[in-house]
Formats: sequence, structure tokens, C-alpha cells
Amino acid sequence: MSKRTLVRGGLVITAADEVHADVLTEDGRIVALAAGGSDVAASWTADRVIDATNKYVIPGGVDGHTHMEMPFGGTFAADTFETGTRAAAWGGTTTIVDFAIQSPGQALREGLDAWYAKADGNCAIDYGFHMILADVNEHSLNEMDLLVQEGITSFKLFMAYPGVFYSDDGKILRAMQRTSHNGGLIMMHAENGIAIDVLVEQALAAGRTDPRYHGEVRKVLLEAEATHRAIQLARVADAPLYVVHVSAEEAVAELAAARDKGLPVFGETCPQYLFLSTDNLAEPDFEGAKYVCSTPLRPREHQAALWRGLRTNDLQVVSTDHCPFCFTGQKEMGRGDFSKIPNGLPGVEHRMDLLHQAVVEGHISRRRWIEIACATPARMFGLYPKKGTIAPGADADIVIYDPHAEQTLSAETHHMDVDYSVYEGKRITGQVETVLSRGELVIDGRKYTGRPGHGSYTPRATCQYLT
Ligand code: URP
Ligand code: ZN
Ligand code: ZN
Ligand code: ZN
Repeated sequence: MSKRTLVRGGLVITAADEVHADVLTEDGRIVALAAGGSDVAASWTADRVIDATNKYVIPGGVDGHTHMEMPFGGTFAADTFETGTRAAAWGGTTTIVDFAIQSPGQALREGLDAWYAKADGNCAIDYGFHMILADVNEHSLNEMDLLVQEGITSFKLFMAYPGVFYSDDGKILRAMQRTSHNGGLIMMHAENGIAIDVLVEQALAAGRTDPRYHGEVRKVLLEAEATHRAIQLARVADAPLYVVHVSAEEAVAELAAARDKGLPVFGETCPQYLFLSTDNLAEPDFEGAKYVCSTPLRPREHQAALWRGLRTNDLQVVSTDHCPFCFTGQKEMGRGDFSKIPNGLPGVEHRMDLLHQAVVEGHISRRRWIEIACATPARMFGLYPKKGTIAPGADADIVIYDPHAEQTLSAETHHMDVDYSVYEGKRITGQVETVLSRGELVIDGRKYTGRPGHGSYTPRATCQYLT
């Protein structure tokens, strides 16, 4: 028996349009839109009617960069697929693309299968995977072709973290040459990790052990240099490139220069770089450890360049890089040695709200909000138009968003399984009220009604942002 839901009376916002329209879904998909108040819309019947009067009706968020249960520095990211996807749903995100990891010496297949198993039956919302390549060799290069066919169409490489995930320029070039042929997309962690490790060693030897030195050794110049180098390698390989977690003005400038040449080079930034800064890393009593991530938070002056990049499309996507570690017992591993603080911040729950706050503050328009948080990540990672828009045929991943509600972000009220918030006390105008994932209520009027296992694995097409 078919099941129909009608979302009535709201302002439907997509990357392209803002229209007062009613939205009809059937069996997990959007089947029709009609002008609010029209005879057509009035004739529709449904099993469930959601009143969206004075609310926004937006596509569920697509977070293209999360790390649930990620092993790092001898511990694991605190959110499991169960807790992390539930928190994502609370925040209006209905799809994540997480990173499966190939460990050195492992086949891609082995790493990927382990991630399928971790997520299977546990997710509240739909999910896909990118693959982290930590060991580029003849075998893993061949496996890349198979993964692309299987729906794992993007591969993260690291110019940082020597001895862990690091690939040298030769390995990077080989992987890029491969994607140039198989249609995959290289996602680059662009920081010069070899140089950073020298500065880390020197800082520690000089007794500079506090969290703020994490920001000082991971220099802007070493992000910009790596970004430049990654772009040149991609040009040589004739491959597209997506640079993750861009934090520095000088790195945005490298992307802008490449794009001005017409190169298929893309950039992502994250809310932490837009709203937080080195001031947070310098908080006393080791509190700065809460803000340790890589690329690191930057001096506040960089934020204007990131906002500008988002407006001018030199940056196309905002993802969270959600990789939470509790302060107690996890971040604390780095007391007396900042290099032992696990890298990563919690954020999967707050991206849609923080970007709505950016709309309220005039940094971006409402349609750009949806574009950078829903539509472009879906297109970039081959999920469009199933995800990322409100249109007939799309999955019924719909958020009813109250743009007038006021909320205060806090560890007391968030749903991520981590004991602090990097946004503690931050006031936000706007709040998710109701969330549908493939037509099922996951959040119903600020109550969680989802379940682990509703979310299903979503294979992806190759990048749709190139064409
Ligand atoms: O600090 C971060 N970003 N941790 C997650 C791993 C990565 O490099 O994205
Ligand atoms: Zn990274
Ligand atoms: Zn990451
Ligand atoms: Zn914990």
C-alpha cells in the first residue's frame, strides 16, 4: 500500500528557487509540487499532513565529510554510526558520506568491507563512503577502478600525517592519473606534513607543548604550499581535484587562481573555520585541546576570505569533518604534548543551523545556504538529484525548518556522543523542526522518531559537478 505525506504551506527553498509550494511524497519519494493554495494542491490527499506555515521546506542536508568511529592516535572518534547519524538527523542532515579507511599494508577491499560492517544496520539516515588511500601501490591502484564501479567514487589522500596516512607526490600523482581514467575524484588533505613534523619536533624540544602550538606549527604557508602542489599534480594528471577542510585565506587564493584558469578544482570549508579561530586554541587550562583539528583553526582574519570564497564559488561546499573526541580521556591524551591530542571536532549536528545563522547575519543568501550544504555536495559526490533538492523523483529527504526559533548550542542539549561543544553558548536563530528521510519521520516536531537501520547505504555515481 502506498504511503503519502503532504507538506503544506511552507516556503520551499532549493539551490535554484524559493517558492511557496506544497510538496507531495509517496513511498519515500517526492512525486509533485504545486503552488501553495492552488486547486491542484488543495485536491491532494495524504496519510499524513505536515503544516509548514511560516516555515522553510528544504532538502535534507548532505554532509560529505564525516568520520564516525574513526581510529586516530590510539583512540576512536566518539560517535558511532548510530549516535552520529542520529545527531545528524537532529540537525537536519539526512545523508552523510563517511570515510572508509585503508590501513597501510591492507587492500582497499578489506578496509571498505570493515566500514560497510560498522555502518550496516546502525544508521538513522542514508550514508555513502569515500575511501581513504593510505597505501598507494599497484594493487590498490587497480582496486580504485573496481570501487568506482561499486559506488565509491572518491578517494582521500593525505599530504599530512607522515607514517600514518601520508602519500608522497609520486603516489599522489599515480592515484590522480588513475582517477583521470576511471572518473573518480581525489579529495586532498593539503598540508605539508613533512615540514610540519619538523616544526612539531622543534616546538616540543623548546617546551612549547600547549594546544595553541598545534595551530602555530601547522602554518598557513604549509597549507597554501600543499594546496598549490596538489593543484599542479592534478593538472599534470589531467584529473579533477577537491581540497577538503580549507582553512586559510592563502589556500583559497590558490583555488581561486586555479579556477580562474578554468581548472576543475574544488574546495570545501567547514563551520569551525567560519566561526572559530586561534583564540579558541589559546584558551587556558588545556581547554584549547577541544579545538585541535587539522587543518587547524586560523586567526579570525581568515574568516572573511572563506565567506567570500563561498559567495564567489571559489569554495563550493561546507561539510563538517565531524570527528569528535571527548575532552575527558581522549583530548587529555595530549596534556604536556599537543602532538598527542587526537585531531578532530564534533559538528555533524550543527552545520545546517550555523549556516542558517550565516544567512541571518548576511554572509550568504538562503539559496546559497542550500546550495553549499545540500545540492552541491550531492552533485560533487554523485548523489544528485536523489539527494540535495526538492523535486519530483528525488528522495523524500525533507526538513521543515523554523527560521524564527531561537536556540543556544550546548553540550547539555546536543545529541552527539561527546562531552563538550565547540559552540557552547552560541545563540542561533533558526531550528530544525521536522525531518523526513525517504518519507519516514526521523524528527517529528523536535522529537526523535527515527531508528537505527532505517538509513541505507547509498552507492554513488561519479562527480556530477564537472558537467
Ligand atoms: O582533524 C581532523 N580533521 N580530523 C579528521 C581527519 C582529517 O584529516 O580529516
Ligand atoms: Zn583531513
Ligand atoms: Zn576529515
Ligand atoms: Zn566519551
